[in-house]
Amino acid sequence: MIRRLLFLMFVGFQASIFMAQNLTPRPKFMQQGEGQCRLIPGLVVAYDALPDSLSREAARFVSDLNAATGLGAQALGRREGLVRMQHVTDCNPEGYRLRIQPDGILVEATTAAGFFYAFQSLKKMLPANVMARRFDPRRTYTLPCVDIQDEPRFRYRGFMLDVSRHFFSVKELKRMIDLMAAYKMNYFHWHLTDDQGWRAEIRRYPRLTTIGATAPNCRITDFERGTYWTNQPYGPYFYTRQEMQDIVEYCAQRHITVIPEVDMPGHFVAALAAYPEFGCDPNHPVEVWTTGGVSRDVLNVANPRAIQFVKDILDELCEIFPGPYFHLGGDECPTEMWEHNAQCQQLVAEEGMEGFRALQSRFTEQMSDHLASHGKRTLLWNESITAKGSDLARVKKHNPLIFSWYPCQKAARMAADNGLETVVTEIHSATGSYYINRRQSDDPGEPEGAGKGDDTVERTYNYVPVPQDLPESLCQWYVGVQATFWCEWVATPEYLEYLALPRLMAVAEAGWTQQSLKDFSDFRRRMSLDREMLDLGGYRYGKHIFK
Ligand code: ACM
Repeated sequence: MIRRLLFLMFVGFQASIFMAQNLTPRPKFMQQGEGQCRLIPGLVVAYDALPDSLSREAARFVSDLNAATGLGAQALGRREGLVRMQHVTDCNPEGYRLRIQPDGILVEATTAAGFFYAFQSLKKMLPANVMARRFDPRRTYTLPCVDIQDEPRFRYRGFMLDVSRHFFSVKELKRMIDLMAAYKMNYFHWHLTDDQGWRAEIRRYPRLTTIGATAPNCRITDFERGTYWTNQPYGPYFYTRQEMQDIVEYCAQRHITVIPEVDMPGHFVAALAAYPEFGCDPNHPVEVWTTGGVSRDVLNVANPRAIQFVKDILDELCEIFPGPYFHLGGDECPTEMWEHNAQCQQLVAEEGMEGFRALQSRFTEQMSDHLASHGKRTLLWNESITAKGSDLARVKKHNPLIFSWYPCQKAARMAADNGLETVVTEIHSATGSYYINRRQSDDPGEPEGAGKGDDTVERTYNYVPVPQDLPESLCQWYVGVQATFWCEWVATPEYLEYLALPRLMAVAEAGWTQQSLKDFSDFRRRMSLDREMLDLGGYRYGKHIFK
C-alpha cells in the first residue's frame, strides 16, 4: 500500500514537472522548484485593492477555472488567498512573474494584459481540460512549483484570416481566437473583403452584402469528398455590425486587438460587382470571383465619388472597430485599368506624376489622412512601398506599419531602412512560410490546397524573422510576426484548423520567445502534450510532426 502510494506521489510529481514544461510559447525564464501546489475547493484569488481594470482578470480566471474544474474558486478583494495578485511597476507591458510554491501562488504584473498572460500560463500548466474549458470534476488540479519571469519578444503577434474567399461563422472564428489567446497572440487581422466576397455590413451601401457577398459558385475541399464545385450560389455571407462588435468584444476579453482590413484599391472586385460605377469601366460590369488570382479590375482612384464611397465605408467600420489600427490592403494592384481610364490619365497629367503607380500612393495618402482623422494608424501590405513607381514620400506621410510578405525580407529591410515599422509574414516555402494555409505535406492522401506540400511545421518554426546579421540599429523596426491564412482552397472549419494547427503555435512562439530559446524538438514535444487540449476542444490538426 505504501509502495503504491509512493509510486502515485512519484507519478504526480513527474506529471507536474511536465506541466511546467508544457508552456508554449516557451517563457523567457523558468526555474523548477520542488513540490507542487494543489488547488483546493473554494480557493481564493486575492486581488487586494487593485482597480477593476486589473481585478477583472482574476474574475475571468476564476470563471474559467470553475467552469472546467468545479472547484468553486472565488476572486476577492483581500490580501490573503491561495493565489495572490500583486501589482508591480517594473514588468514589460505584457510581461508577468509567477512564483508557485506548495502553500500559494504569487502573480505579479504591471498591466491587465500581463495578469491575463500570467493566468493563461497557470491555466496551461493545469490539466488540459482547463485551457480546453471542458468540465471534469474528477481530476486533481495541482500546479508544479516553479518561478517564471516572462515577457514577449515582439509587441505584435498576429493571425490573419481571409474570410472573403470562404466565409467562417462567428462561432468558428471564436475557436481560432481561443487558440490565439492560449498561445498569447495579440492581433487578429480580419481580411474582410476581396475579389471573392464582401463580408462586412455597411449600412450606407447595402448591395455590398447582397450582390457583393454572393459568389456564383463555390469550390469546396473536404476530407470526405475531396475537391468539388457546389454549382450553387455561395452566400450572401457576411457579418452584421453586431457580429463584428461581438468579435471585437470577445477578442478584447482575451487582450487581442482586431484589425479590420478592407483591401483596396486592388482585390476590390466584390465591391465593384455591387457598385460598378466606382470601377474604371462601368460599362463592363464584373462578377464576384470564385477562384483566386489577381484581377485587373480595381477601384477608380481618380473618381471623387469612388473616393467618397470608400471614405464612407471606413467611417462605418471605424465606429465598430475601436482599435488603433486599420489595414488598407494595397497588395497586388495592377495599374492597367487606370492606364486606360480618362479620369486617371487626366489626374496623372495634371499632377505631373511619373507613372500610374503613383495614383496608388496618392490614394493611400488620402485614405491614411482620413483614417488619421479617426485617430487610426494605417497598415499596408508591402507593395505600397515596394511596387515600382510608388511615391514613398506620400505613403510614408502617416507612418504606416508595413506587412512584409513578398519578397518578405527585402520588403522588411526596405521598410526598416525607411524608418517604417514592419511585421514579418513570409510567404516563401524555401525559407519557411508563415502562410499557414499552404499544405504541410505532399502525401497522396492530403487534400488539395495551396503550395507544394513542403511548408512543414518544422520549416515554419525554424524561419528566422529578423536576420541574424541585421544591423542592430534596424532591429527596432521589426515589431512582430504574423501567421497569415488565405482561404481560396479552404471552405470548412475542419480544413482551416487542420492546416493552421500546429503552425499557428509555431508562429506564436516566434512572436513571444527569444530566438536563442527556440528549439524545434522541444516545441514538438510540447505540441505533443498539447494534443490532449486540442482533442478535448474537438480541433482537427495536422499530425505530421507526431509521426
Ligand atoms: C498577399 O498575400 N497578397 C498579401
